[in-house]
Amino acid sequence: MQDIKILEGQLAIHGYLDIAIDPSLDLFEEINKLKKEKNAVILAHYYQDSDIQDIADFVGDSLQLSQEAARTDADMIAFAGVHFMAETAKVLSPTKKVVIPDLKAGCSLSDSCPAPIFAKFKEKYPDHVVVSYVNCTAELKTLTDICCTSSNAVHIINAIPKDKGIIFAPDKNLGAYLQKITGRNMILWDGACMVHEIFSQEKITKLKIQNPEAKIIAHPECEEPVLALADYIGSTSGLLKFVQSDSAQTYIVVTEVGILHQMMKICPNKTFIPGPPNNLCACNECPHMKRNSLEKLYLSMKYEMPEVTLPERIIRDARASIDRMLEISAQAGLK
Ligand code: 13P
Ligand code: SF4
Repeated sequence: MQDIKILEGQLAIHGYLDIAIDPSLDLFEEINKLKKEKNAVILAHYYQDSDIQDIADFVGDSLQLSQEAARTDADMIAFAGVHFMAETAKVLSPTKKVVIPDLKAGCSLSDSCPAPIFAKFKEKYPDHVVVSYVNCTAELKTLTDICCTSSNAVHIINAIPKDKGIIFAPDKNLGAYLQKITGRNMILWDGACMVHEIFSQEKITKLKIQNPEAKIIAHPECEEPVLALADYIGSTSGLLKFVQSDSAQTYIVVTEVGILHQMMKICPNKTFIPGPPNNLCACNECPHMKRNSLEKLYLSMKYEMPEVTLPERIIRDARASIDRMLEISAQAGLK
């Protein structure tokens, strides 16, 4: 075992363990061994690299991953996703060890809503119910009445009495989409996802002209002009279910490109074209999600760090808003 002080120093600098791995090791085999040895479960989001999705015990969207974190009987959860997701797993399974391959795998949307500033903002609307998209810190969840994900957000908003005002944070694009679908007028926090707001309406339109038979499918974190082009709008799992049941052969997929791995696995005979960003970078890849790698996953499981921990107060106060979301989702039969 490496010196603990050296490991902690590395985490403080890099956010991950920077340890050379014997190149002859078969990481798939080693990770599978660690899973058994440590009674660990690997939960991975659809935006992770393909090899991480393939080694995971469970791959899912934000809602499914939190449902899985709540029900697992593993001793250790290796969370291949971003920090707010691992925090949610910790809140739901506080006695379990939660590790993440890279502690710096953050989220621009979560960062756009710092809890102390939101607390002041919320004071202006004392009678409003606070609904927060799960893409926020655990601290923000302590200021939230009900969390939601993109797959249950409509149900959550519809479950709130019509005479109640609603503050929706932190995603203004998902918020605007929900206002349109539910007919509710909400106070929206001004946050957005750096990946979903970069898709180009103009380039998607050109792509559609070149592929007239293709259906456009989009995540509701996209801006309204992009959503207006879509034949179907849904969460990552919603998009996946749609391409399975729909009769088209080709899809322009307007969300983080990692989802294409499962789409191609489930529908090998269909064609999936990644949605184009409005510049030449690989901006349809989430740089936070992509900080994780198979090597970092292996090291995090072997050394059981970086660990995601939270103060007891945060765990207690954040839990109510997540539990409420899971209750409403269960009542609606959402999986
Ligand atoms: P879902 O997995 O809920 O569709 O959310 C997508 C996302 O941006 C996660 O960071
Ligand atoms: Fe956050 Fe957007 Fe990345 Fe999801 S895709 S983790 S919302 S920055």
